[in-house]
Amino acid sequence: METIHTIEWMKQIVHAARASDRILGLVPTMGALHEGHFSLIRAAKQQCTQVAVSIFVNPTQFGPSEDFSKYPRHLDVDRAALHNLGVDYLFVPSAQEMYPTGFSTFVEVQGISDRLEGCLRPGHFRGVATIVLKLFEIVQPRFAFFGRKDAQQARIIRQMCADLNLDTQILVCPITREADGLALSSRNVYLQPDDRQAATALSRALAAAADEIKKGERDPARLLASVRRVIDGEPRVTLDYAEIVNAETLQPVTSTLHGTNYILIAAKIGNTRLIDNALIEQDGELFKLSV
Ligand code: PAJ
Repeated sequence: METIHTIEWMKQIVHAARASDRILGLVPTMGALHEGHFSLIRAAKQQCTQVAVSIFVNPTQFGPSEDFSKYPRHLDVDRAALHNLGVDYLFVPSAQEMYPTGFSTFVEVQGISDRLEGCLRPGHFRGVATIVLKLFEIVQPRFAFFGRKDAQQARIIRQMCADLNLDTQILVCPITREADGLALSSRNVYLQPDDRQAATALSRALAAAADEIKKGERDPARLLASVRRVIDGEPRVTLDYAEIVNAETLQPVTSTLHGTNYILIAAKIGNTRLIDNALIEQDGELFKLSV
């Protein structure tokens, strides 16, 4: 595996890969890698002849009171794991090179960025879209891999690619969970033992709604009531939002489940903010659930 620190060097490698018809896949990350990231890398290895992983803790997607400075950083551990997974290129640009003095261009995907996470984290998706577009321009991947864990982010990136006619195809991979259901996240390390236990409330709440759907419930208000019941049973957990939305528009489903929907949850446990979701896909009379 080659570790690449500069944009120029990455571009040279990309040009060589293009000339030789290699299919390059990119997995953008902020590091502190875990099995969730590794699942994206495995998917990339299956789909592509070469895989690049980027690690960049992107300052523009953190709000002023968020955890940018304490975000976990373990480059050496990450690099060893990526090497073992057979990744070809690790791209680790500097903040100075990505955002030099005078940097003033940002990408805004309007509408779908304004709700849910975008509402609670103003400017977050502007930072995400901007850095992802920059990474796509530098690496020019044929495929880029994102996790359904951040369902709104993946939807926004797909919209950006369509709107800006980018050649990169976005592939969204399932959520990797701990044995007790907690979705893996680099932020889980912030959880104290009691909070760690309480954090399972998010996936338990989604499982409760999934059970109701299996029993035939189709009413979003009643499904959300069962989500809230589980969260309310865990005093350490404060719900930011629980919504059932259309997977394309991210607008709330008001009457009955229909088409492809997400149940999206965000909650705080102590100072840690976690998100989780379940995907509901209608196939005629049947509703397929993925948590
Ligand atoms: P990061 O949080 O490091 O996540 C990188 C990718 O891993 C994202 O696509 C995310 O959805 C995916 N991922 C995280 N946890 C996962 C899990 N439990 N199962 C499956 N996939 C999971 O998301 C970002 O970084 C940044 O916003 C980034 C896109 C890199 C832009 O800075």
